[in-house]
Amino acid sequence: MADLAIEVNGMRFKNPFLLASGPPGTNGKVIKRSFSLGWGGIVCKTISLDNSKVVNAAPRYGKLHAHGHADEVIGFQNIELISDRPFETWLDELADCKREYPDHMLIASVMEEYRREAWHEIIERTQATGIDGFELNLSCPHGLPERKMGAAMGQDPKIVEEVCGWAKEVAKVPVWAKMTPNITDPAVPAAAAIRGGADGISAINTILCIIGVNLDTMRPMPTVEGYSEPGGYSGQAVRPIALRHVMQIARACPNATVSGMGGIESAEDAVQFLLLGASTVQVCTGAMLHGYEMIEGLCNDLSTFMDRRGIKSVREMVGKSLPYFDTHAGLVARQADAKREHAGRTNRDAQTWQGDIARETKTLFTD
Ligand SMILES: Cc1cc2nc3c(=O)[nH]c(=O)nc-3n(C[C@H](O)[C@H](O)[C@H](O)COP(=O)(O)O)c2cc1C
Repeated sequence: MADLAIEVNGMRFKNPFLLASGPPGTNGKVIKRSFSLGWGGIVCKTISLDNSKVVNAAPRYGKLHAHGHADEVIGFQNIELISDRPFETWLDELADCKREYPDHMLIASVMEEYRREAWHEIIERTQATGIDGFELNLSCPHGLPERKMGAAMGQDPKIVEEVCGWAKEVAKVPVWAKMTPNITDPAVPAAAAIRGGADGISAINTILCIIGVNLDTMRPMPTVEGYSEPGGYSGQAVRPIALRHVMQIARACPNATVSGMGGIESAEDAVQFLLLGASTVQVCTGAMLHGYEMIEGLCNDLSTFMDRRGIKSVREMVGKSLPYFDTHAGLVARQADAKREHAGRTNRDAQTWQGDIARETKTLFTD
């Protein structure tokens, strides 16, 4: 089996597969189970200081199937908020997980209001549990922006820089900033996060969407007492968008580490994120659909891929495909160059002189 370990910002992951913040890391019990099954790391469900302000609605998920494939989910919407469990309970459980699994990377996803003291408090109290790193949730697209949190922060590069700065003032462990895809140019807030001191960028959070409208009731879904709201889109369907965001962030912030996610369900999906600049990858919807046990297949298939290609370490793959992007004008120029070179190749003597020398001579004149 190939060596799947990778060190990122001083954190040593047994493999590059992390469970992303969300239902898969919703309490200490499931976090420990995931470690025991072999996940390289876990980003816990986002926590905040005051859970009383977090009230979920139900139903809160919606699915998209490809036509004629009711058994396969290609897109997933949620209107779920961050964790509604008490902060103190979380502190106990995070400490307990670290005691039992000291060598497994546990990253705390945190979110707070736009106040320096609140960010200082959540970072200081959470890091006292012994967690290995932070992921700042600057990206939840629904519910929280109404309180000027989540994506409302991530969409404003000035606030991103300021909040990352506040976190770094007190953090003693690495800090990743998790970005929203609901913006025009992902490189702008990512660069702001790095200016603020963040060590890495996580991308992407979910994409604002409406999963569909029920044609019997004519009500948008998921339907809560007859009404709905735009929610966050995830799963396979978002992967091409996520890959583009990771590529643009990796190219714009070459000194930052990137943790890539969005629609990863197989080792082949994950390798594409690595090739575009991610050094770890995260899985949320995939684990919700296929179970925590999918980690075994992810590791085996990644190892097989590496062995087959003679790749010795995960690090070797990181960013390998990044140099092969250009502007459209660049592609057109490359195409013209290639045509010229091709013409040059076919103008070699062996191909030019076939016996009809008068006609062949004419082909070599300029006009
Ligand atoms: C039901 C659900 C809840 C989520 N909750 C959080 C959260 O609390 N904090 C966070 O940063 N991201 C949250 N996410 C976003 C995921 O971590 C991830 O960024 C996104 O779903 C894309 O990855 P995926 O396609 O593997 O799910 C949630 C996603 C889903 C589907």
